Amino acid sequence: MGNCLESPVKSLSPSTSRAISRAVCWKVEFFGILRAWKQNESFISSVLMKGTSTAKTSSSFTGQLSSIGISTYEQFSQNDEAYPEGRILDAPILKVFTFAELKSATRNFKPDSVLGEGGFGKVYKGWLDEKTLSPAKAGIGMVVAVKKLNYESMQGLEEWQSEVNFLGRLSHPNLVKLLGYCWEEKDLLLVYEFMPKGSLENHLFRRGTAFEPLPWNLRLKIVIGAARGLAFLHSAEKQVIYRDFKSSNILLDSNYNPKLSDFGLAKHGPTGGESHVTTRVMGTFGYAAPEYVATGHLYVKSDVYGFGVVLLEMLSGQRALDTNRPSGQHSLVDWAKPFLSDRRKLSRLMDQRLEGQYPTKASLQAAQLTLRCLAIDPKSRPSMKEVVETLEQIESMKWRSREAKSDDSLHVQRQV
Ligand SMILES: Nc1ncnc2c1ncn2[C@@H]1O[C@H](COP(=O)(O)OP(=O)(O)OP(=O)(O)O)[C@@H](O)[C@H]1O
Ligand SMILES: [Mg+2]
Repeated sequence: MGNCLESPVKSLSPSTSRAISRAVCWKVEFFGILRAWKQNESFISSVLMKGTSTAKTSSSFTGQLSSIGISTYEQFSQNDEAYPEGRILDAPILKVFTFAELKSATRNFKPDSVLGEGGFGKVYKGWLDEKTLSPAKAGIGMVVAVKKLNYESMQGLEEWQSEVNFLGRLSHPNLVKLLGYCWEEKDLLLVYEFMPKGSLENHLFRRGTAFEPLPWNLRLKIVIGAARGLAFLHSAEKQVIYRDFKSSNILLDSNYNPKLSDFGLAKHGPTGGESHVTTRVMGTFGYAAPEYVATGHLYVKSDVYGFGVVLLEMLSGQRALDTNRPSGQHSLVDWAKPFLSDRRKLSRLMDQRLEGQYPTKASLQAAQLTLRCLAIDPKSRPSMKEVVETLEQIESMKWRSREAKSDDSLHVQRQV
């Protein structure tokens, strides 16, 4: 779980714990909503609609969500491959699960099926029948990830709604697929496609046999895919600002194809010629753009800053924020920025686990791009479209023969 940032503008202090006032406020809001829902079921639809761009009536929205037939779901999933550039649906196409179904799919939320834990709560591995999406026996059918709200979580209902509204409607090869949700009494759960290789964060920073160092070209493949995902969000007619770009939110499939997860903080971009939206400061320390932290002004380009921080993590193998580093080095951006513009300094910054196995020219260009993404003025940062193009050029850069340790290691690097 990251170092979440959630505080009123201009009163930020680095802390991994959440603001207690918001917890209380959220709980009041959450249980108030549940009460209202019980009194008037149609209320659920208006809650879910908050933040969506299509002005559907609440009843049609609920109808669409709950009446979605499995054949429609299958059709939707199959059609996915027909849209390599992504698409935005008018309304979420999601299965509504019962709590009992998800309890059964995860073997009663068995502790040994926990995949990880974040601000929302624990994420469990579960099994569903591929066709009917009903619970299946462990090891049979399709593996899914089930995120279950921790009642103590401060990242609650609002984020849950945002996830359903945004991720339920956005479809792109580099966005994780939300399959459905459960909302019963106080239980809020989300069901996603399973991403077998876990998060980029784990691969960059965890040690152990399960996390072999990622070679250079695999790192590039991952950041290019993640950049495409962000570029898709930014290119939508009604732009979407992701707001929580970080390595723990980049999940990897079995071929290391990256997909962005966690749309709990996503927000629609400015409209009517405005340059930014003004909002409460939320996100993760170390990744949030300085203008946003200082003023609450959120730009589309605030996401580009977060992308720059992940590029820096990818190059250096260092976390965005790490209080275990010597003082003066806790914030990666503050400490590492001067290394990015100097060729000799850059080689000292580069991740030791790469063992020098990368084209020098490519690393220099990647460092230049990182610096541009981290520009203080949001206007000076490149668009995500430009970032994708630049990274594709970097990826195509040839290895000079002396840069490869041996033919064997070169082979491994190119195979991925
Ligand atoms: N779809 C998925 N497939 C496989 N593993 C997943 C999936 N979603 C989440 N996980 C695992 O669960 C962990 C926790 O995820 P979660 O999104 O709840 O929190 P986080 O991103 O680590 O932190 P934060 O709440 O600050 O965003 C992830 O790091 C990942 O290892
Ligand atoms: Mg996450």
